[in-house]
Order: sequence, then C-alpha cells, then structure tokens
Amino acid sequence: MSNFPSDKPVLVTCGLPYANGKCHIGHLRTYVPGDIFVRSLRKQGQEAVFVCGSDAHGTPIVVNAEELKITPTELVNKYHKHFESIFKAMEVEFSIFGNTDSPTNHARTNSIVEALIDRGYVYPRVIRLAYCPYDERFLPDRYVEGICPYCAKPARGDECDQGCGKHLEPGEIKNAKCRICGNPAEYREQEHFFFKLSSFGGFLSDYLKTLGGTSNAINYAKEWAKELKDWCITRNLEWGVRFPGHEDLVVYVWVDAPIGYISFTEEWAKKTGGDWEKYWRRDSRIIHFIGEDITYHHCIFWPAMLKGAGYTPPWAVVASGMLKIDDKKFSKSRGYVVWVDEDYLDHGFHPDLLRYYIANYTSHTKELNFSWKVFQDKVNNELVGALGNFLHRTQHFAQKNFGAVPDGKVDKEILEKIKVTIETVVAALDEYEFKKATDAMMELAAYGNSYFQSREPWALIKTDKDECARVVKNCLQIGKALILLFEPTLPGNMEKAWKQLRIPGDVHSARFEDALIEIPAGELKVPEILFTKIEDKKIKEMEAILDKRIKIAMSKEKKHEEEAKEEKTEITYEEFQKLDIRVGKVLSAEPIKGSDKLLKLEVDIGEKRQIVAGIAKSHDPSELVGRQVVVMANMKPAKLFGVESRGMVLAADVEGAVLLMPEKEVKEGTRVR
Ligand code: MF3
Ligand code: ZN
Repeated sequence: MSNFPSDKPVLVTCGLPYANGKCHIGHLRTYVPGDIFVRSLRKQGQEAVFVCGSDAHGTPIVVNAEELKITPTELVNKYHKHFESIFKAMEVEFSIFGNTDSPTNHARTNSIVEALIDRGYVYPRVIRLAYCPYDERFLPDRYVEGICPYCAKPARGDECDQGCGKHLEPGEIKNAKCRICGNPAEYREQEHFFFKLSSFGGFLSDYLKTLGGTSNAINYAKEWAKELKDWCITRNLEWGVRFPGHEDLVVYVWVDAPIGYISFTEEWAKKTGGDWEKYWRRDSRIIHFIGEDITYHHCIFWPAMLKGAGYTPPWAVVASGMLKIDDKKFSKSRGYVVWVDEDYLDHGFHPDLLRYYIANYTSHTKELNFSWKVFQDKVNNELVGALGNFLHRTQHFAQKNFGAVPDGKVDKEILEKIKVTIETVVAALDEYEFKKATDAMMELAAYGNSYFQSREPWALIKTDKDECARVVKNCLQIGKALILLFEPTLPGNMEKAWKQLRIPGDVHSARFEDALIEIPAGELKVPEILFTKIEDKKIKEMEAILDKRIKIAMSKEKKHEEEAKEEKTEITYEEFQKLDIRVGKVLSAEPIKGSDKLLKLEVDIGEKRQIVAGIAKSHDPSELVGRQVVVMANMKPAKLFGVESRGMVLAADVEGAVLLMPEKEVKEGTRVR
C-alpha cells in the first residue's frame, strides 16, 4: 500500500533560502527533489500545496546590507527576485514563493509568540551579552567573532561554523570581537527572552517515534531530544519581527522563518480561496524538505513551538545529505561552488539534465558529489543513450513505416511490466528514494531498448507487417509510460515528448496509472531529438571555470591563514605540561548506532579507555584494531550519542582525518611531550 493519495490535506515545503546570496547547486538539493515529490504526488492523484519563500531576517542580512551600503529590504528584494527567476528556469514550481518580511508573517509570528507567552512557554532572563563600547551597540550573532567554547576553533556568535558545528547561545562565544570595528567586545547584562524548550522533552520523544521522513533526520533528533536547552529567542536588532511589547528587541530569525511556512500558506489561501487552517490547525500531512544541516530546527525547535502554540506539527521531515564538488566539501569561500545561473543556465544547459543528476546520483540522504565529468557521463549514457534513444528510435521507426500509431492491442506482458515499474517507483517515492525511483524508470527504458532490439522490427516489416505493428505498438506504449514516469523529474522534455506522440490531454496533470491506458491510434510526425550529447570540449570549459575560481579562493585563503596563525596566543612549558598526551593501542573499534561519523574505540593507554572518535567516514573499524595512536588523556569526559568518551584521539585536521601515530611501536601509555 502506498502512502498516497491520502484523505488528509497535504502540504509540502522547502527550506527557505536566505535572501542573502545567489542560488547554487547545494540549494537545489532541497528544491529539485521537493518539486519532483510534489509533481509525483499529483501524478498519484494527490492534491498538494507546495510552499517556499525568502528568509528575509537574521544578522547576516543586516551585516551584508551595511557593507553594501543598502537597506536590508533592498538586499532582500534583490535576492528574492533572483531565487524566483532561478526556480522558474529550473522548473521548480511552488504554489507560492513568499517573503518572511511580509505583513502576514509579522502578524502570524506575533500571534504565535503571544500564544507561547500566554501559555507560559516564554520567560525573561538576564544574560551577559557581547557589547561593543566603540560602536555603542550589542553584538548579536554574526556581529561577533571569536573562539568556540566547545572546540576552540574560530567561530561566529551563533554557530561554530569552522569547527564542531554547535549552535552557540548568546554570550557563549570566547574572545569575542566586534565584527564591525574589530575591537574586543565587552560584556553587558541585559534581559532577554527564552523559549522553554526543555519542557517539551516528553512531547518530543513521543512525537519523534511517529515522525516520518528520512532516518538521517529522525535518528539525530531522537538523540537531541534527550537533552534540551531553552532557547534565547530575542535579539538586539532593528531588522526582524518585533518581540511583542519590547521596542528594542526582535525575535530570533529561527522563530519567524519557519512561521513563514504558515503565513505563506495563508497568503496562498487568500489568493486561491483555499483554507490554510486545514493544514496547520487540523489533522494534516505537512512534509518539510530541508538540508541535513537544519535538522535540529525542524525536528526539535519547530515542532515544540507548534505544539506550544496549538498548531499541527510536521508529519515528515525529509533531509538531504550535503553536497560535494569534485569530492571536496562544498565551500563558497574556497571556490568549491557551482552557481546555477552563471555556471549552468547561462551556458545553455537544460534544467532537466541537472534535475536528473540530483535525483539519480545517489540516495537522497547521502552526500551528493557534483563533477562535470560525471554530469557528462550521466547525460550522455543515460538520458541520451538509454531514454532519449528509446523514445526517438521507436517513434521514428513507427512514423517512417506506419505514419501513425498502429491499431491493435498492447501485449499483457508489456502492460504488466509497466505496472510493476509504476509500483516500484511509487514505493521508492514513499521512502523519498529518488534514486531508486529514477533507476526503476531507466530500467524500463533499458527493457524497451532490448525489446526493440531483440524483436528486430526492421526485419519484421519486410516479412510480417502485422507482427511488426504489434512490436511497434508495444514500444510506443512503453514510451508513453516512460514519459509519464519521468515527467516529475524531466518536466520540460517530457512535455515535448508527450506532444510528439500526440497523446490527448496535458502530461503534467495526467496520472502514473494512465500509463496503462492504451495509446490511441493516430497520425505521427517525425520526432525531434530530445537529448543531445555533451561534447568533451564543453566539459573542459566548465572545469576550467571551476578550477580558476578555486585557485583564486586558495590564494585568498592562504593570506587569511597566515594572519590567523599569528593570532594563536603563546603558552608556557608549564601550561603545556598540563596536557596528558600518551601513546595508546586500539583494542577494539565499532560503529555507533545512529551516527555515521563516530566510532567507539577501546584504547590501551597504560590503562583501558573508552574513546569516541569522529573518524567513521575515513576509517574502517577493523583496520584500526592493533594500531598505535596518540591520545589526549586528560580531556574532560563527554557523552556522544549516549556513549561515554574519556580522551581524544589526535589527528591532522584535514578532510578525512589523518591519525597521528608514533614513528615506531612504543610501550602503551608512553607520554608524548
Ligand atoms: N534560511 C535557512 C537556511 O538557509 C532555512 C530556513 S528554513 C525555515 O538555513 F524553516 F526556517 F523556514
Ligand atoms: Zn566548536
């Protein structure tokens, strides 16, 4: 049984892009699968509203606007238009694309915050905040830069962006400096408001048992729900949604941004005569498509807020894995980025090609690597070689020899094959497995190609015209099925293919099950070619653009690094002596359930120690056993995924952690100095 159609109202959202920079392939990893999913719902007879919009608030937008000497509104409008036009070009079709600075969102945020206050979920607390005496202002979030209190890496006020990735509460960052003038910040006390997240532990642990979506999101959320800290939800800023009753405070951007999902639904309802409350106030299916990095907000903070204010929490959270470019971590500052306009659309690439790549490269929850070479291979072998080739050769043959779709019945066996494919596709979509779904479609194209090849219609036409007509009809039926199945992924090209086959009705509103309705007999035209091969020369050109960007970024980064090196404070030998660093031998190693990054190690460092190390992505547990490693032994004990860790295994800080080891074996427990 598939999940859809359902008698409950369905609302699908995509994480709101910050209106603060251009759209890159990383963004599309949320929006393209979201769009494919919604189109597929409609193909299963399920109505769905599809909601997204610009995330207009937050300190980075204020900081950037200040640097550009424009107003935040101007900055937001610019990127709002940019995203809108990219989505149009990429055929990502939202029912509405709103803006969190709209009056509706201000009003809805106010009403939700007031509901939370009324129900006792918000309380004031005086906290110490970074303040710049020179600029005479408080320094919220990205107005401060400093050192992460958890991992000692450079961090910004609200997030350890270069180290452990932890969310930082106001006042937590160490060595705070003002980002405007660079002077050390002072600390001042001020009253702020907190959301009582800690009182939602019981609700969340039950709720997360029923929450649908992808395991990468849910498993992490279950761990987090065991240890909840209250959230500071106010900031000293002008730009944002006013915190009720306090002229000098706005709510934290992560309060009003997800509320955008609701207010955009309201705006959509107003425009179309729909009812927003049936999605947000009653039993419904709200499905959030997000990037894995904002799981905490969507699986913990947001459901608690909705529950607290009396709204319907999400039914599923679908989190995509992160993006890599040429197997390197995606990074705008390092130049590992592919912009959707200047690096893709402006070069004349059809949106369908990238949509297919994103859907089919790997499972939705895994890391997706983008490389131009792989892009070329997938387009040339799969879209051109398998799908395009089948659609073209069969229609071309039919047109040339019959001038029309031949009369007669489609074989049972063919209809059965189509039926099974639809079932496989729908089952995969239920699990948000876009790769499995598109693989099944490609498998049908391959089946079609080998059917055509093995029946040799070009020979049959001379010996047995009726039999040839039967083969051709079967092929055209497979073609119809392929067009319907691929429409959500390749909407532009499948629309063309549908028209070429002269099937009545609109391909976008037709259903998957229509693939079983026999294609009507009728005249055919010479088909146009849908997909064409990408030449090596074009790929070289694209690679050169990327290379150049990386080189420029690298030279910039070197400068920064040199500056950063000088800033490390000196310590005395006595201070160094406090570190208990020892040689150890790994006795055992095993993965930790629910985490794809962590391994649990038993290490002999003169005594047995259990240590959790973030090396699962780069190291196989079995390879580690028996190896000597270097351990920082007097680390404060910590718990990761419920597993106690007493010590830290030292490694060079590069991607795919390189473990330190002694030059030759020494006795376990030997000190390192
Ligand atoms: N703008 C945020 C980001 O890019 C996402 C906001 S999603 C919402 O990380 F839930 F807040 F709407
Ligand atoms: Zn950190």
